[in-house]
Amino acid sequence: MAFIEAPTNFYLGRMYDNRAKKLTDDVVYYDSRDLTTHAVVVGMTGSGKTGLCISMLEEAILDNIPAIVIDPKGDITNLALTFPNLDPQEFRPWIMEDDARRANMSPDQFAAHEAAKWRDGLARWDIVPDRLKWLKLATRLSIYTPGSDMGLPISILASLKAPRMDWNTQTELIRERINGVVTAIYALAGMNMRPVTDEPHVLMANIIEYNWRMGRDMTIEDIILQIQQPPFEKLGVFAVDQYISEKKRYNLAMELNSVIAAPSFASWIQGEPLDIQHLLYTPDGKPKVSVFYIAHLSDQERMFIMTLLLESMNAWMRMQSGTSSLRALLYVDEMFGYFPPYPKNPPTKDPLMRLLKQARAFGVGLILATQNPGDLDYKGLTNAGTWFIGRLQSENDYKRVMAGLRELATAEDDLNIEESGQLIAELKPRVFLMRNVHNRGGPLLVHTRWAMNYLAGPLTRPQISQLMAGKKQQLSSMMQQNPYAQPQLQHNPWQQAQQGYASAMTQPMGYGAQSAPPMNNAMGGMTPPPPPGFNAPSQGTPPYGTPPQQGTPPYGAPAQPAYGAQQAGNSSQSGRLPGNFIQSPSPPPIPNEIDQYFLPTTLTDQQAFSQAGQRFSGGQVLLAYVPVLVAQTTVRYSQKSAQIYTTRRYAFHVPELMPSGLVHWDEHVAPVVDSRQLSREPFNANVAVYQEPTAGLTDPKRVKALQKDVVDFLYNTARLIIPYHKKFKLYGDPDTDMSDYQARVTQQAREARDDEMDKLNQKYGAAMDRLEEKLRRKERELEAERMEIRDRKRESLYTTGEAVLSIFKGRTNYTLSRMSRANRYKRQTEADIEESHEVISELEREMVDLEAEYEQKLNEINQKWVEIAADIEEQTISPYKKDIALDVYGVGWIPHYYVNTGGQPLVVPAFG
Ligand SMILES: Nc1ncnc2c1ncn2[C@@H]1O[C@H](COP(=O)(O)OP(=O)(O)O)[C@@H](O)[C@H]1O
Ligand SMILES: [Mg+2]
Repeated sequence: MAFIEAPTNFYLGRMYDNRAKKLTDDVVYYDSRDLTTHAVVVGMTGSGKTGLCISMLEEAILDNIPAIVIDPKGDITNLALTFPNLDPQEFRPWIMEDDARRANMSPDQFAAHEAAKWRDGLARWDIVPDRLKWLKLATRLSIYTPGSDMGLPISILASLKAPRMDWNTQTELIRERINGVVTAIYALAGMNMRPVTDEPHVLMANIIEYNWRMGRDMTIEDIILQIQQPPFEKLGVFAVDQYISEKKRYNLAMELNSVIAAPSFASWIQGEPLDIQHLLYTPDGKPKVSVFYIAHLSDQERMFIMTLLLESMNAWMRMQSGTSSLRALLYVDEMFGYFPPYPKNPPTKDPLMRLLKQARAFGVGLILATQNPGDLDYKGLTNAGTWFIGRLQSENDYKRVMAGLRELATAEDDLNIEESGQLIAELKPRVFLMRNVHNRGGPLLVHTRWAMNYLAGPLTRPQISQLMAGKKQQLSSMMQQNPYAQPQLQHNPWQQAQQGYASAMTQPMGYGAQSAPPMNNAMGGMTPPPPPGFNAPSQGTPPYGTPPQQGTPPYGAPAQPAYGAQQAGNSSQSGRLPGNFIQSPSPPPIPNEIDQYFLPTTLTDQQAFSQAGQRFSGGQVLLAYVPVLVAQTTVRYSQKSAQIYTTRRYAFHVPELMPSGLVHWDEHVAPVVDSRQLSREPFNANVAVYQEPTAGLTDPKRVKALQKDVVDFLYNTARLIIPYHKKFKLYGDPDTDMSDYQARVTQQAREARDDEMDKLNQKYGAAMDRLEEKLRRKERELEAERMEIRDRKRESLYTTGEAVLSIFKGRTNYTLSRMSRANRYKRQTEADIEESHEVISELEREMVDLEAEYEQKLNEINQKWVEIAADIEEQTISPYKKDIALDVYGVGWIPHYYVNTGGQPLVVPAFG
């Protein structure tokens, strides 16, 4: 029986008839919005939990819902195994050779066997290859292997970065975040410390708060040092020493130190930042699935990463706007030890509890699976809206689950314990009792559909490496290309500068410079029609998006000969060096009216030579200053209606300024240097050589005239481009990235789509009701006429339909499942068309038509909102002239390294 492809509704499987012990034709849909009250999946190993959850993730991916997955066993990596061609060759690298041996087959035979199994399985569940294609296109999977370089590395340092939040209004939120980080760090050292009550926790939390309030990012090293020597004297009313003795602090510091001293620790602080927005969306706002593979970690490390992720999720979530649609998923495949019953209280329990309670308002859904029903705190799970109970291992497990259900039943009265107990007593694999508080019809048995991905089981390390090899390469080349874009700490004082630098003048500045190409629905004209996945994925978009296009940096570009090098070969006169340089104790004279600035060196000579692609083969290295016209500006942007108030800094270095002629400022964009780093004196006068300034640079009139020129240039070109969504009246925040904005727009569109779909459901549900009612009446007439009961099966369907009709009215998944029944009428009709009454067959045709119309309308609604979500315009904010401030202007001396190798000078930038 075909299912209806409907947005927001997950295709989970079909109803299972427990009495007849067989699969029925009734499709089970699950309204994804119900996941905002979370789902718990219990069942013994092999009961099909992972298969069910992978199927839910597949549905989520098709509807463009991002997810974070914690994968203790390594099964969820199977999300990468989508093979639309169902070709044995595709399966071959992923089969377990042991399985082949056990099946007495060669690996090739076994691959063919598995491919055939998947082909048949999917066909039996009406999943066509096109659906697999769509899944493959929509899947953006990253497998992170914290503490190991097998998959993608992840850095925990982002969690220690001072948040850009307002301490006056958001103290509570920030403190919550601090507490989470502190709990996680202690967990890494194997200590279970509680906020507020445990002194070591309070101490570390205060240290972080103290630093963060000053805008200082932390490292674990900083924390350890400050635990020994806190930056404050009192904690509450007590002196620090009184509150927690020096000796205790020393011991704490030692314990934490042994964590970071372990060689493996290095891998925790390299890689992409552990930042939820980044884990859920690509830079251009497309949804991702981030799998955390943790099979290789110790218990302590698992507890740490889990705590950190859960706490970060809490913090991220609270920054989101409210929504009634599903926004994102967090799935934990095996819950062992993370949410145990009282009195156990591991560090993960509290953040999980908070998520369970609060996530609903923010559209974040949790899926928690466990094979050990004794390991769950049912009291804490009374908030969970959906339970999937699968085959259980033992009588004991059964009792535990029943006891758990009883606790739930007190919260929701309609759960029939006796009936449920009977149902779960003997379940076969892949059959689950589904109890969803939003379905007031009571629990039902669902047989899970065939998983679209190849369920190969846990992948090996080399397989994971292979899967992520491309991503890793992309990542490292991205970092190489833009060393300042390291998504880690902003320790580098140039980072700020570099960001301004990235937006060359020819490009729109700031925000717009990073904006992805408009999200066009590239699949629009393609056959087959897209599944309801939101924002049709455009083919070939790299998962991290392309890094922002950078203008060619004026410094350190290897291909470009360094300043002055062209004039190499000049005969060296007294004090004169090749390349128009002079060795002198003081810089060449510059008229008084012109300000002078010396820029700092930011590279060692070795770094400078290698960055410039030059081999350094010995000789005395001199510091050489090359003069340029330097201008640094701060431009203020404001727009009241969009509530945008922000600034950007731009810098220009114009080398070899001529006495006249146009200056093309856009060709001289340079990094902004913090003015505190600028000096009026050379940094090392003793070994300095200077390039002679060109005539233009020493001409006060010329320099003065250009001062006005640069302001004019900025006035005309330095525009801030922000995304704007007209329909939603939603402006982008120029100080956050496109990912965040795109995700907000998508969520708003999703919500509107879901609302519209609900209305459609009501309308078509009612129309279907009317037809069914007519059909029933006619049939009764017919039966009465013939005085014989025909087609009991059909009759029984009506009765169940009737029984739940009033209860379900308006529920999407109910409408869906009734709609997809229309075809069954048709099939039955065709079988005995001759005998059937004409009116009845006419009604049945109407039902089929209605279903088709409904399905098409669903599709249209989805398409409409996909297009609306993609309809992002740009708004330009231009600065007023008065808002352009010239912070630095005059002659700038740029440091270089200079080596005279036998008359051939080698000059490379020491700044960049
Ligand atoms: N939805 C499914 N589609 C296809 N095969 C499945 C599905 N669910 C389970 N299976 C099969 O059953 C096996 C065990 O299921 P699994 O989901 O791993 O159980 P659990 O996670 O409860 O231990 C899988 O390896 C797979 O072969
Ligand atoms: Mg499993």
